Amino acid sequence: MNVLDKLLEDHSHQRRLAGKMTAALGPPAGEVGWQDCASCDLEGFKKAHRELKEHVLDHERREELFLAEAISLLENAQELEAELAKAHESVNHLLGLMETVTALYDGVHLHSLRTVAERLKDELESHHDYEEKKLFSRLRRTLPPADLERLSRRVERAREAEKAGKSGP
Ligand SMILES: [Fe+2]
Ligand SMILES: [Fe+2]
Repeated sequence: MNVLDKLLEDHSHQRRLAGKMTAALGPPAGEVGWQDCASCDLEGFKKAHRELKEHVLDHERREELFLAEAISLLENAQELEAELAKAHESVNHLLGLMETVTALYDGVHLHSLRTVAERLKDELESHHDYEEKKLFSRLRRTLPPADLERLSRRVERAREAEKAGKSGP
C-alpha cells in the first residue's frame, strides 16, 4: 500500500472516530443554552477524542514527512508543506481546545462541549476534503508510480525511526 492509500485509509478511520465522539454526546435538545449530561456517554466521548487526537497527530506527521521527502521531485512542495503545516496547526488547536473544554466541563453546560466537538469534526472534514480532492489527487497525477512507491518506503522508514527514537532510552 503506498503512502497516499494509507493516508486515505487513515481519513476513513478519523471520520469514524469523529462521528463516535460527537454521537457520544447525544443529540442537541431544545433551545436552551445548557443541558446536563444525564443521557450522554462522557467516558465514550473522552475515549473517542483521545483516540482521534493520537491518530491525527501520527497521521499529520506522516503527511509532513511525505512532503518533505517529495521536495526534490515537486516544484512547489515547500509551498505545499507550509500550507499543510498551517492547516494542521488549526486542527491541532481544536484538538487541544477540546481537551481544555472537556477538563473544565461542569456536568451541566454540555452545549460548549458539543459546540467544540462539532467544530472539530467540521474542520477535520474540510481538511480531509481539501487533501483528498486537491492535494492527493495532484500528487498522484504528478508523481510517477515508481517515485511514489520509493517515497512511500522512505516515509515509512523515517516514521519507524522516529517512533524507535521516541521509545528508546
Ligand atoms: Fe492533513
Ligand atoms: Fe490527512
